[in-house]
Amino acid sequence: PTAGLETSVNGGVMQICLSRPEKKNAVTFDMYQSWTSMLNKAATDPNIKIVAITGKGDYFSSGNDLTTFTKQMETGVPMQDIVKTARNVLYQFVSAFISFPKTLVALVNGPSVGITVTTLGLYDFVLAAETATFHTPFVTLGQTPEGCSSATFPKIMGPLRANEMLLFNRRLTAREANDWGLVTRVVSKTDFAGECKRLLNEMAQLPPETLVFSKEIMRARDRELLYSVNKMECDRLAERWTSPECIRAITNFLQRVK
Ligand code: COA
Repeated sequence: PTAGLETSVNGGVMQICLSRPEKKNAVTFDMYQSWTSMLNKAATDPNIKIVAITGKGDYFSSGNDLTTFTKQMETGVPMQDIVKTARNVLYQFVSAFISFPKTLVALVNGPSVGITVTTLGLYDFVLAAETATFHTPFVTLGQTPEGCSSATFPKIMGPLRANEMLLFNRRLTAREANDWGLVTRVVSKTDFAGECKRLLNEMAQLPPETLVFSKEIMRARDRELLYSVNKMECDRLAERWTSPECIRAITNFLQRVK
């Protein structure tokens, strides 16, 4: 088991729970890599029909762990090697979402930031508690969009709304995210756990092979586009990570929280 991730399989449903509540479920290198291999294994595991992701505690996730670079640098790894690895880890992670053939469900239990918001455009169903918020503060961090959001968000919500989120730092409430098409359904915090269970039980009753073929047909036109968008996003981010704008923003965050 990887620190920060908990998994369970029940009745054909695999649940992956982001479990670093003390860090608002920020996603580390190790977590990206395990999450990727879990998705890739689940893709071909005949005992798994559905994968659902959720978060432990109040947050869904605070996104990418912003201490990753500094922690790696402390171990003496040169910056260019860290960036290269980080780029590949991200690329593989998002590729696993693009190619995942089965039903992928996000159970957004609370606020979500960055990569755990951008990848929502690659899920099949997004259930949110009304305490959830959706924030992609890339530009303020000197970074550019990832998770294929530069393609999925304009398609889902329209280009001007995508600009609000991806360029101008707008944080959405769960209701707004529902109105903008990023969230399928919003339920009260008290009903959330029960609704998750009910939804997954209902989905697990559907014929799994037909679900896979239906998803394949619906996604076929976009698949190549998404792979190329992912590559473009990761290449640009790798360049941004070493930019003065990004280094300054991350340093500010780390100093603020110390
Ligand atoms: N990476 C690393 N650590 C993070 C983190 C992240 N993305 N988000 C939160 N944490 C850590 C904090 O450093 C803090 O650690 P500490 O207790 O050891 O000091 C702990 O989680 C709790 O966070 P804190 O900031 O005290 O909670 P808060 O409720 O005031 O604010 C957030 C929560 C998520 C709004 C705030 O932590 C934040 O803005 N995080 C960065 C989010 C971000 O920009 N992600 C990347 C997007 S591309």
